[in-house]
Amino acid sequence: MAITVEHGVFHVETANTLYQMKADHFGVLNHLWYGAKTDNVMDYLLDYPDVGFSGNIYEAENLRTYSLDTLPLEYAVGGVGDFRVPAVSVTHENGSCALDLRYQEYHILKGKYQIPGLPAVYAGEEEAETLEIVLKDTATDVKVILKYGVLEKEDIITRSVVVQNRGKTPVILNRVHSLCMDFPYGDWEWIHFHGRHTKERQVERVPLIHGIQESGSNRGMSSHQQNPAVILCERGTSEKKGFCIGAALMYSGGFQMQIERDQLDQVRLVMGIHPDTFSWKLEEGESFYAPEVILSCAENGFGELSHRFHQVIRNNVCRGKYKLSKRPVLINNWEATYFDFNDTKIEEIAKQAAKLGIDMMVLDDGWFGKRDSDISGLGDWFVNEEKLQGGLGRLVERINRLGMKFGIWMEPEMVSEDSELYRNHPGWAIRIPGRNPMRGRYQLALDMANPEVIAYLYEVISNILRENNIEYVKWDINRNMCDWYTPTLPKDRQLELPHRYILGLYELLEKLTGEFPDVLFEGCCGGGGRFDAGMLYYCPQIWCSDDTDAYERTIIQYGTSFFYPVSTVGAHVSAVPNHQTGRVSAIGTRGTVAMAGSFGYELDLNMLSEEEKQEVFRQVETYRKNQDLIYNGLYYRLCDPMEDNMSIWEFAARDGEQVLVQGVVYRAEPNALRRRIRLAGLAKEAKYQVAGEENVYTGAALMAGGILLPEIKGDDAAVQIHLKRVSTL
Ligand code: GLA
Repeated sequence: MAITVEHGVFHVETANTLYQMKADHFGVLNHLWYGAKTDNVMDYLLDYPDVGFSGNIYEAENLRTYSLDTLPLEYAVGGVGDFRVPAVSVTHENGSCALDLRYQEYHILKGKYQIPGLPAVYAGEEEAETLEIVLKDTATDVKVILKYGVLEKEDIITRSVVVQNRGKTPVILNRVHSLCMDFPYGDWEWIHFHGRHTKERQVERVPLIHGIQESGSNRGMSSHQQNPAVILCERGTSEKKGFCIGAALMYSGGFQMQIERDQLDQVRLVMGIHPDTFSWKLEEGESFYAPEVILSCAENGFGELSHRFHQVIRNNVCRGKYKLSKRPVLINNWEATYFDFNDTKIEEIAKQAAKLGIDMMVLDDGWFGKRDSDISGLGDWFVNEEKLQGGLGRLVERINRLGMKFGIWMEPEMVSEDSELYRNHPGWAIRIPGRNPMRGRYQLALDMANPEVIAYLYEVISNILRENNIEYVKWDINRNMCDWYTPTLPKDRQLELPHRYILGLYELLEKLTGEFPDVLFEGCCGGGGRFDAGMLYYCPQIWCSDDTDAYERTIIQYGTSFFYPVSTVGAHVSAVPNHQTGRVSAIGTRGTVAMAGSFGYELDLNMLSEEEKQEVFRQVETYRKNQDLIYNGLYYRLCDPMEDNMSIWEFAARDGEQVLVQGVVYRAEPNALRRRIRLAGLAKEAKYQVAGEENVYTGAALMAGGILLPEIKGDDAAVQIHLKRVSTL
């Protein structure tokens, strides 16, 4: 049993971790522990100092040492004497904002709870358990149900929250965070993943200052600028050593993550929907469901933490035919042609691709409506016959005849003002009456909270998929959102739109992925601006970044790998000079970097030399040979690209039979020793041989002493070393 309750203490155990909380004699739910297994009730760590200006609950009478402001709380409330960041905040009918949540009851259920309308980790009845803890406000009939999903073997705990209004008057929810966790002791640092368009998920590790640190997005999406995932680690934690906790929000809209270090050096982490772009009116009898947070912790550093997230995202978040199976190697025409193509040009690229062993031709932006540039056409999802003579069906057939699959780009959530859709339905675009809207890449966003919009999009997209043999959809979105207003909601509910937008998006994706289970949906948002566990529930891979430069990609993919498995990372070889940076890197380097993902090409193969074409052929073969190892092996980051002048990573087979080491050494240095890399995940006692070499090494030697990289000449040199087990000592 993963969940047990003894003397008011809740124990949630996984294979290697323990989570504990306790309802005390005032009914306040205290957080006791999240970390290594201890075989102990951890309430002996609770302390009750008498701290000036930290007030006391009324029932404590003259006891000055019982304060909500100093106790570690499981779900912190605002307005009743805990002055740290709250997890939840409401406004009652009389305008007051207090909520005083006390323990009522609990339920333990078989299997993993699901959340209406929202993505959530899933597992078989026997593989997971659910704990529900019901809290109730002391003065009203507002209930908060804390949900914990426990995947014991995977060392994963999920958290989610339901707010119920059982009273007679409406309640306004101002903030409902999905996660709240207090840490009374510890010397912590936190890591977040910031960036911008073409430079996503840059790793930043910082100490905790007194006060509040925050990362988040109020852009209507999880964003390029911050990723909805965070690591809290003890000072000194490295890839292989040290304690760390990871939390990833399974949500694609605006989010907030706050970390507060308080007057007593205690730390609180809260995470959920961004309250600046959220409000929700809960009428009598209604419930609100907050999105889920996936949690794990590890005693053996970031590597172990990443493995746990990779495992759960691959097996219990991603769905569909392609969840675990090998994805097709694709060629995408975007950087090859941009908007300037016709059916012949696409077929020419595909012909060359077919010869080189590529599986699928993806037709990117520009095939529909009046779309010769990004200023017009979005929303008109009917084929542009001037470009594709004979229609989409004819092109698909021609591509299929080459032995290739066909995929297509769409940006369903958006509309150009210069489009038939906008002319017919101006009210479907998000804008505030009487104001000019913000335009992003010239376009407006559709009101995904409007059921008519969802019905229309379902109709057009499903028709395209039904009528043509399309086996892949790249689902893009290319602007951030503001001007929140929808005619579908009354004036006191307008700030529900950002969350309702995401609910509409999820509803549409659920319907389409359900009806077309064999179609591979790849998420995209100007590259990786909506790379989150929520989207991965519908799209098992996401275009990682619009930056295809090999050097930049090693850093973006490094940051991405802390939470997201390699199979979810769309990665392509593109042309040089690179279109984003102007950098020229060798085709071997570009190939090596793109292989740490779901692999493809994004250039006109006909422009390559014969030698380069041969290299492409070899790359596709190498990727195919290793795809299973790349997807299912354990992924290790072997160095820090920001410090080590190189990025080297490794895929280790789970049975210890082989490892693939790949990477890029950035700058060549004169008069230097060869670089040494310590491997990971090998069987200590086994012997390994580098493919094509005679030397044999023990796993222990390769992990402790490491291996010397070949001599490096030139910048951005690729490393690719394959080791196989030859015997056991
Ligand atoms: C976004 C995507 C690109 C490409 C263009 C098309 O920027 O990230 O890959 O599809 O849109 O307009």
